[in-house]
Amino acid sequence: MADFINEYKYPMIDLLNDYHINPSTKSENIEEINAKVEIIKEAFKDFNIDAIYVKTIIGPAFSKIIFKISNIKTIKNIKDIENDLSIRLAKRIRINDKLIGNEFIGIEIENKKREIIPIKEAITDLYKEKSDDIKFIIGYDELMKPKYISLNDLPHLLIAGSSGSGKSILLNDILAEIMYLYSPSDLKVILVDLKMVEFREYQRLPHLYNDKIVNDADEALVVLESLVEEMNRRYKIFLENKVSNIKEYNEKVQKLPRIIVFIDEYIELTISSNNNKIKECIKSLVMKSRAAGIHLLISAQKLDSRYMDSIIKSNIPSRISFKVSSAVDSKNILDETGAEKLLGYGDMIFKDYNSINRYQAPFVSNEEILKIIENIKE
Ligand SMILES: Nc1ncnc2c1ncn2[C@@H]1O[C@H](COP(=O)(O)OP(=O)(O)O)[C@@H](O)[C@H]1O
Ligand SMILES: [Mg+2]
Repeated sequence: MADFINEYKYPMIDLLNDYHINPSTKSENIEEINAKVEIIKEAFKDFNIDAIYVKTIIGPAFSKIIFKISNIKTIKNIKDIENDLSIRLAKRIRINDKLIGNEFIGIEIENKKREIIPIKEAITDLYKEKSDDIKFIIGYDELMKPKYISLNDLPHLLIAGSSGSGKSILLNDILAEIMYLYSPSDLKVILVDLKMVEFREYQRLPHLYNDKIVNDADEALVVLESLVEEMNRRYKIFLENKVSNIKEYNEKVQKLPRIIVFIDEYIELTISSNNNKIKECIKSLVMKSRAAGIHLLISAQKLDSRYMDSIIKSNIPSRISFKVSSAVDSKNILDETGAEKLLGYGDMIFKDYNSINRYQAPFVSNEEILKIIENIKE
């Protein structure tokens, strides 16, 4: 085992696709958005809204048109005409009042043509940031600045969104990032997918903690119970070695891998007869596993209380919402509306204690995943 781990062969970056952006895409987007800016200015004039155009940022999926406002009331006035604006623009829009300070507001409009952000870009950016801290890129903002998440700051993550919105691709993004940046001695994964549609490719992944992909609820319970045991075992050895967490243990004693549990389509797990036992395991993990280096990434279509235990939810303040079908769904995930206005295809809102912002997830294809796995097994 140890030998095998030492031999982890990192995959080569040139396996990954480049998506050549057609140069006319940018100019078509610019042309369209400039016309929309004029329509918004006109509407503001008609409704007596006191806002001055500042600039437009053209992102990969949507563009943000920024206005300077004279006072807080203007935000409400703009929100009141959201429907009118949307009709005039012939586009779905999202009004972003979370820009820094209270002086600005952003009107976000879908681009005429979308650009795909290749996973290659995220891997390249992660190479530049490589440190002992385990980090991932979940998406890019409209300035194409990457959003990093680190396991030290964010022990667990809840991901929600309607079917086809981009949840599984994001889990695959993170798995691709793991294969490129972290060896099995840094990090192990457990993959749970009861729908049996995702993760099949990973059957031969050297980072697997257990030997197979978990496809049914009985297996899920077994592996989650073993993980609770592993957590308790780790706390015991930390105590014996007078350290309080995995970071100190890794520095002072020897390296223990972090373990990330990926659960795709969580709701499928909750409708099994093991539901209660599974929930108890997940609860003890989300409450206590952080310092032991055990992390959960849970994806589900909805997070309402019928499916998602409130204790589990409240112990995972870091949330991602992809597009959802209603404002109520958005509130259940982010505690605010807005995710119903997203565009799908990896368009997301990320929220944690400190921040809330919109990002576009990178894209990775199944074919790329297969190539990476072949390459690391060679
Ligand atoms: N980040 C992305 N960039 C571009 N297209 C995406 C992205 N995420 C998802 N898509 C598109 O949407 C489809 C569904 O995504 P998927 O992740 O399988 O949805 P979900 O798991 O939420 O049902 C993908 O097959 C792909 O065509
Ligand atoms: Mg999926």
